Amino acid sequence: MLAMMRLLLIAALVLRAAPAADYLPVPVSVAPAQGSLIIDQSFSVAITGYQDPRTRAAASRMLDRLSAKTGMPLPSAGRGSSPAALRIECAGPGEQDESYRLEIAPGGARLSAPQPLGILRGLETFLQAVEPAPRGFSAAAVTIEDRPRFVWRGLLIDSARHFLPLEVIKRNLDGMAAVKMNVLHWHLTDDQGFRVEVKSLPRLHQAASDGLYYTQEQIREIIAYARDRGIRVIPEFEMPGHATAILTAFPELASAPGPYTLERRWGIFDPTIDPTREEVYRFLDTFLGEMSGLFPEPYIHIGGDEVNGKQWNASPRIQAFMKQRGWTDNHALQAYFNQRVQGILKKHGKRMMGWDEIFHPSLPKDILIHSWRGQKSLAASARQGYQGILSFGYYLDHMQTAAFHYQVDPMAGDAAALTPEEQARILGGEACMWAEYVTPETIDSRIWPRAAAVAERLWSPAHVKDAASLYRRLDGVARDLEWLGLRHRSGLRPMLQRLAGSSDVDALEVLVRAVEPVKLYGRSSSGDYTSFTPLNRLVDAARPESDAAREFPRDRRQARERLARWSGNHARLTPAIDRSFLLAEVRPLSEDFSAVAQAGVEAIDFLVNRRRPPQAWLDAQLALLDRAARPRAEVTLAIVAPVRTLVEEAGRIRERVRRAP
Ligand code: ACM
Repeated sequence: MLAMMRLLLIAALVLRAAPAADYLPVPVSVAPAQGSLIIDQSFSVAITGYQDPRTRAAASRMLDRLSAKTGMPLPSAGRGSSPAALRIECAGPGEQDESYRLEIAPGGARLSAPQPLGILRGLETFLQAVEPAPRGFSAAAVTIEDRPRFVWRGLLIDSARHFLPLEVIKRNLDGMAAVKMNVLHWHLTDDQGFRVEVKSLPRLHQAASDGLYYTQEQIREIIAYARDRGIRVIPEFEMPGHATAILTAFPELASAPGPYTLERRWGIFDPTIDPTREEVYRFLDTFLGEMSGLFPEPYIHIGGDEVNGKQWNASPRIQAFMKQRGWTDNHALQAYFNQRVQGILKKHGKRMMGWDEIFHPSLPKDILIHSWRGQKSLAASARQGYQGILSFGYYLDHMQTAAFHYQVDPMAGDAAALTPEEQARILGGEACMWAEYVTPETIDSRIWPRAAAVAERLWSPAHVKDAASLYRRLDGVARDLEWLGLRHRSGLRPMLQRLAGSSDVDALEVLVRAVEPVKLYGRSSSGDYTSFTPLNRLVDAARPESDAAREFPRDRRQARERLARWSGNHARLTPAIDRSFLLAEVRPLSEDFSAVAQAGVEAIDFLVNRRRPPQAWLDAQLALLDRAARPRAEVTLAIVAPVRTLVEEAGRIRERVRRAP
């Protein structure tokens, strides 16, 4: 009997379904099965059914990535053993349907989809399934049915504030595809630069870019690269505000006399296109006409945000124009401008898209509202018949945590009260990487892995929202993204070595991992940044989210060990601080880091010994924690919070009443 039970137990252990891989985004349905598919060097892929060049290219890239992930040379797509280990079957053409079905069994895997995009998405899922196992690399047996919750899952990249070379855009497109994002919103113009070649109006890129712009050939290269990965490219050309660059090239289009020069600071500026001038619309017809030919997407984003109206208010000519038409506010003038722009776009076969501010009931229902101000305005426009997407809550430059972005849902808040028909107008959202404080060197660490949290919010079913699970899976995605050439992890040490003037950066790394850059608009409030300010400080190396703080051990012994190490960190870092001007600002922070850690050590000792700390100790530690919580060098010490918890707990200890023996 006992032997029988033992046998059953062993059988159950052997036959138990392998643990589900850490898929991100979580598929709609995952049914684990028994066993696993071994991935060895005979692995090969066969493609049947509808042949699209993208599916063949994607299969070939998947093999290259599998080879990188496993470190094993693999035969290229189409060669290798037969029967193929992965059979791909695309039913037919089409550009909408992203659904797919992936079955992995010990004898082989099968990926099928109605259209090519589904194959592309399913190949990413397959790659995520491959893990090292005791008998080799393998993919656990499973049947996955999957499709996106939202059709619009975007990432905005701002190439205007800091110009980003093509390879930066490309590797981020690879990252987007890996987490099934499908729209690159490319912010190409702003006050600080005009970043695209315009052949019919060459002054734009010549006079307003510092020579940093994309040629049309390069733009086409990016569009093709993105399309190959199932990603649409939507350009944004800001108007009538955020237009200093345009007005630097064409001052005669402005609402106040020029000349203008490229803006070097960050913020909201006065130069605004003059909606009352007919030559403005002739200019836009030429410009948008050429751009409509360059970008195949049906939408062109015209910005439209943050028009401060100062030039309009100050212009007698514009005021007379408004008075004549009975308009009393600038929003009416902007709506007039938008109507004219919309007409021009329509003539060139395009639909208009813009930030919340473009919303006005006079505009036709085929425009798309991009909400950066909240679900409320998204819901309000959906109620009035307009389609929209959400970016409020998805601003990666705000340095919020992945968990923060993760809990933002386009269908929450006011949108939850919409009718199903109105809700269907909410197409999805976009994570936004505004580039005031990023460079080609740092941008990957601001986008990844946090953008993957937004990607999952927009792909996976609404009920998938466990942050602990997200973080576990983000770690795997963050690792895999490095195989794609993203530098969100590997970029850190070179930056630290620059800061320290040395390759021994262990102590600096300990500090940098315990801090976070100031959040929201914290950096802009210091006010002295320009396009030329070096972004080479500790704050630029610091990750948006401190893993050291988030993963601070609950176990007291582990916590004490870690804190004890940190308490000696300042002494280890001091030689580097003495050596490098870049680290001078870090000295008080480093001192406080170690002092806070020491406070934590002492608090744990009081707790473990159940000895009540003296009031003077308590007062001193709380004062230290208050000081250490304040931002310095534009970072905050993220470990203050867990240490404060320990100190406060120690402060609540009641001395045990001694009993007579
Ligand atoms: C925006 O952040 N002004 C779109």
